[in-house]
Amino acid sequence: MKSRLIKILALLLALTLTACNNNNNEKTMENSQQNQEFAEIGSGAHLVKFPEDLEEGIVFATYDRGDIHENIYVNSREAIEAVQNGEELPSGTVVTLEGFRDGELEHYLVMEKRTGWGSQYSPEERNGEWEFQAFTPDREVMEDGIGGPAIGRCYTCHANQERDQYINSLGRMKEFELEEISQSQNSSTETPIAAIHTEEWKVSEISAHMINSKDANKGVSSLIDGEEKTKIIEDVLLNMYLQQFKS
Ligand code: HEC
Repeated sequence: MKSRLIKILALLLALTLTACNNNNNEKTMENSQQNQEFAEIGSGAHLVKFPEDLEEGIVFATYDRGDIHENIYVNSREAIEAVQNGEELPSGTVVTLEGFRDGELEHYLVMEKRTGWGSQYSPEERNGEWEFQAFTPDREVMEDGIGGPAIGRCYTCHANQERDQYINSLGRMKEFELEEISQSQNSSTETPIAAIHTEEWKVSEISAHMINSKDANKGVSSLIDGEEKTKIIEDVLLNMYLQQFKS
């Protein structure tokens, strides 16, 4: 009787132990399944294409360190405005680092933000909605060195800048004076009138006494050209413009 009880107890104990074990196994399996749900960091790098319109972007920062020179581009004015208004960078923002060593182009490092990007990564590893890619001076995807299998390092290091939208140079973007570029681009156009092209226009001197005569057109004497012409046209236009307000 006693030995039977012991046997039953032993059996129960064994059963509970296996049950516990199974439980544990299930748990570890769940964990590993969860890990597998996240993509390897950097596996979405192929989404980033070389920004063909790079030169149309704005260089908002440069770095010089020893033999290294870097130009940092952003592809839109809106991105800078967003940062200066304390907003998130918009979807479609592309930031490119053009890196030189000893005056020679070494690589392009590109980060691009798109709505929904990065959601395949674990929350600890992802850099918000940014993906990164490295390109050779020929603007081809870099397969070795800092690119290719090592691409995950871009994400690991830039993740430290989470506070600054993953951008090391965010401070420079905040300080960048957008007015400077708009002014230098339009420096010759102080007034809308000055922006009117006058090359196609002809200005000629007409002697004062002919203005009211039918023959005014025939009274053309010498054609006026160059800066003087432009100035006369501008004066006439300005007078016409001001005339509107008088009547
Ligand atoms: C060890 C850290 C580290 C790694 C790895 C790294 N970066 Fe950066 N990255 C920086 C720092 C710091 C800057 C600021 C410029 C500087 O100091 O030269 C920067 C700047 C940039 C910029 C300009 C925007 C900004 O953050 O200022 C881009 C674009 C960029 N990196 C892309 C990449 C890409 C693509 C990779 C991977 C191929 C990469 N980075 C790897 C640290 C890193």
